[in-house]
Amino acid sequence: MQAVGNPLAESASIVRSSVLKTSFSVEPIAPSIGVEIGNIDLTAPLDDDQYAALRAALVEHKLLVFRDQDITAEQQVALARRFGELEVHPVFPHHPDHPELVVLGGDGKIPGRENIYHSDVSWRARPSMGSMLRCIECPKVGGDTIWVNMAAAYAKLPEATRDALEGLFAVHDLLPAFGTRMTPEERDARRAAFPPAIHPVVRTHPESGERVLYVNEAFTTHLVNYMEKNEVRFGFDFRLAEMDLLQYLFRQAAAPEYQVRLKWRPNTIAFWDNRSTQHYAIQDYFPARRRMLRATVIGDVPV
Ligand code: SIN
Repeated sequence: MQAVGNPLAESASIVRSSVLKTSFSVEPIAPSIGVEIGNIDLTAPLDDDQYAALRAALVEHKLLVFRDQDITAEQQVALARRFGELEVHPVFPHHPDHPELVVLGGDGKIPGRENIYHSDVSWRARPSMGSMLRCIECPKVGGDTIWVNMAAAYAKLPEATRDALEGLFAVHDLLPAFGTRMTPEERDARRAAFPPAIHPVVRTHPESGERVLYVNEAFTTHLVNYMEKNEVRFGFDFRLAEMDLLQYLFRQAAAPEYQVRLKWRPNTIAFWDNRSTQHYAIQDYFPARRRMLRATVIGDVPV
């Protein structure tokens, strides 16, 4: 398809043309975000129509859930790679044969720590486009994951707040979340390899054109240019008002109105768009075991 100026129109036409040619079903699981995709077998490689329709569904619904997909680690890597280049995470443990798969969840010894709202690897200069998470093992009850539609969170902000965010940039850093279990030498090495990244507080989704609130409590440390945009008389005008604004923005992710909550079963796969969502893995199951494999697709530089 030839590139056109309006990404929304382009994405809508991809949906129309590709959904017509594919037979999978699309069932909403919450009003704001998330659909379950049925009648699809992910052990087989996606054909071009399936790929285009799934990509368009991902952009539109932000979270795709597939049930009962008994795929191998190799098949998961191949499936995720269809959507773009995969990253190798510098901190999480990897699958022994597939470094592109991170192993997440509690093993009965250390609780998982993904119970904080975040968008994956927002501390990278090119953060993730999307993540594909497969459940290998989970408790019968507990260990659900919540996703949040951050385009809706932005759209529902008061107009004056949206205006105040225009032109603001924020720093995203891996150390506050990941540095605590590192030695000082490891911290120095990660700091050198992954300096903090600066991204717009509100980004424009490269495929849908939606405006998205892109700060999160796990990785965003401070605003870069708050002082330039606001009247500052004293130090506390600057630090306190800036931190208040960030806390207010972080809290938007916790509004249930923008959320969906997924109950996992083994062989459930969730594929989400990190450019327009945040997620939170509920840590209510320790010391029960929960093992998940995540492939993370590299995205664009946020603008
Ligand atoms: C993650 O934060 O990417 C993992 C989410 C989960 O384990 O449910």
